[in-house]
Amino acid sequence: MKQDMIVILDLGSTMNTDIARAVRNIGVYSEIHPHDITPEELSKLPNVKGIIINGGENNIVDGVRIDVSRAVYDVGIPVLAVAHAPADCELTLQEWPASEEELALVLKSFVFGTCKAEPNWNIKNFITDQIQIVRRQTGDKKVLLALSGGVDSSVVAALLIKAIGKQLVCVHVNNGLMRKGESEEIDELFRNQLDANLIHVDASQRFLSKLEGVSDPEEKRKIIGNEFIRVFEEEARKLSGIEFLAQGTIYPDIVESGTKTAKVVKSHHNVGGLPEDLQFTLIEPLRYLFKDEVRECGLELGLPESMVYRQPFPGPGLGVRCLGAITKDRLEAVRESDAILREEFAKAGLDKKVWQYFTVVPDFKSVGVKNNARSYEYPVIIRAVNTIDAMTATIEQIEWPVLLRITDRILAEVPNVNRVCYDLSPKPCATIEWE
Ligand code: XMP
Repeated sequence: MKQDMIVILDLGSTMNTDIARAVRNIGVYSEIHPHDITPEELSKLPNVKGIIINGGENNIVDGVRIDVSRAVYDVGIPVLAVAHAPADCELTLQEWPASEEELALVLKSFVFGTCKAEPNWNIKNFITDQIQIVRRQTGDKKVLLALSGGVDSSVVAALLIKAIGKQLVCVHVNNGLMRKGESEEIDELFRNQLDANLIHVDASQRFLSKLEGVSDPEEKRKIIGNEFIRVFEEEARKLSGIEFLAQGTIYPDIVESGTKTAKVVKSHHNVGGLPEDLQFTLIEPLRYLFKDEVRECGLELGLPESMVYRQPFPGPGLGVRCLGAITKDRLEAVRESDAILREEFAKAGLDKKVWQYFTVVPDFKSVGVKNNARSYEYPVIIRAVNTIDAMTATIEQIEWPVLLRITDRILAEVPNVNRVCYDLSPKPCATIEWE
């Protein structure tokens, strides 16, 4: 299956990803490439039917105005230039239309009318292509994957199980900071239902001892990150014949990691920092997918909705929600209260509506009364936020009856807790997590 492609050349427009999405929405595959791509590099890309040169607000880099090479116009592929009109370009637009409908019309006219591209981009074809590519690339060699249970690593696992079955070795590290039932669900789904080759490492004690007495949030993050690499490395060394490392890198990770016009926003290293002698060849089958396409891919591969639409969960897990130096009591309080919150959110239909929701347990106590006696115990703080990109966030205005039900349950069922609070702070000034 060869899919037609529209190439978007990046001249620093913040619209690049929106345009790439819009082209895929009309059924044609699209990729964003650097503005200084050479005609030779362009001709190596498969099935390019059209080029969109997307001029933008960031087209001055280090004081120099950047532009595409003139030769790109001469390779014989139709070019649409937007906000960027060289004299001899046939198709130009001053700016993109504001409405989605009009944008789709403009793109359809160019992509189907001028470029004669076929609308053959869909997730089924993508999966079929990737399975072939992975099989060709790996032959009979083994592939290692760190399976956290997050959406991206789970979808990569499902795809690779389909492509190479037991040649895929999944390593799931339980760091003791997972949510209630999470590690068990990973075992059940991947080992029992999908018959994956899954190594489950229970490293809870190891992580918790390393974290003992450490209260600084960044120090906690560093310890959790480093320890993960160490555990993963130890497991990798026990295995033989592994040549490849699969990662759940997705398109926004690549775009955000810096292009020639946008300096690095965030560096993404899912399993960075492995020692030099453990160099694997990387396999990143989702590297060209946007998040919603990753979810669609997961559903198509048979993963349950609860996994595919899972809310984001930070790498350091409950470790940054059990504030200050982690203790067993408070970690259990975070885990149990989080489970109640998730259960009640699901019952109220809020799990599909709210972007991220969790509980936090601080490292101070307050006075209360329980069973007619004075109590001196921890509070639980509920947080529920909505956001588009996690850079800013607003709080969800949860209805009182739902909040009261959650409060009653937490107070009745979670040991060492005598008070429940609701966090009303947007981001900024607060961040989404408390640490
Ligand atoms: P903040 O707290 O910075 O969170 O407003 C924004 C989003 O990022 C998640 N987050 C993390 N994710 N490792 C991660 O993988 C981390 O250390 C980390 N800290 C925050 C947070 O859950 C929210 O979705």
